[in-house]
Amino acid sequence: GEAREALPAALAVEMIHTFSLIHDDLPAIDNDDLRRGQPTCHKKFSEAAAILAGDTLIFKAYEFVNQAGWDAAVKSSISLAMSRACAEQGLIQGEYADILAEGRDVDSREIIAIYRDKTARLFELCMFCGGRIATADPAVLKDFKNFGLNLGLAFQAIDDILDVTADDDTLGKTAGKDLLQEKATLVRLTGIDRTRDWARQSTDRAVAALEKYNSEAGETLRGLALNMIDRIM
Ligand code: IPE
Ligand code: MG
Ligand code: MG
Ligand code: MG
Repeated sequence: GEAREALPAALAVEMIHTFSLIHDDLPAIDNDDLRRGQPTCHKKFSEAAAILAGDTLIFKAYEFVNQAGWDAAVKSSISLAMSRACAEQGLIQGEYADILAEGRDVDSREIIAIYRDKTARLFELCMFCGGRIATADPAVLKDFKNFGLNLGLAFQAIDDILDVTADDDTLGKTAGKDLLQEKATLVRLTGIDRTRDWARQSTDRAVAALEKYNSEAGETLRGLALNMIDRIM
């Protein structure tokens, strides 16, 4: 069925996601000891193993796309979208900007650009892949990407709030690290309440992008957005 057809893209995106977290936790980036309630990859194995495991996941992501049963045009547009979401205007750029912004005086525009690159581009990619595999036309793809981008922005704002308000057990990672490392976050700049409002607005924008779609799938995505924002309400 359709879900099976999308599986290689789901696996590829999850490999990219996992690479990004393994490397994000490295001593040279966020220096985290705990992830998903377990020691981080470099703590459990070694720094070398964590760097190389992340590298491997990137290549395996492309392998899954290459081996998928889609049309050549779909494959090539998805692998291009993966590069665009991750490279010098995406996740990796966002990770670097996040590090460079530590301890600096940054405005909300710069913080939102970091959120967009390090986090929201991957959400946008997920929506693009699903739409593209389902042969959605460009107008639908645009709405899907708009949903993903706004959901991703909300996700990062929520992540930054939870870093302050939740504990290690709830998060499965070390709470309170962003303030300690002087991360550039909306929470640090504007406080929890205004960040919560901003996350809610971004969630509303995401949901509005799917307004015209009344299918069951639309319901699933709306539910996902509402579940996410419920974590801080
Ligand atoms: C990480 O953002 C974004 C990427 C891995 C690309 P964070 O540094 O805020 O994520 P956590 O809090 O470690 O999960
Ligand atoms: Mg980080
Ligand atoms: Mg981190
Ligand atoms: Mg975080």
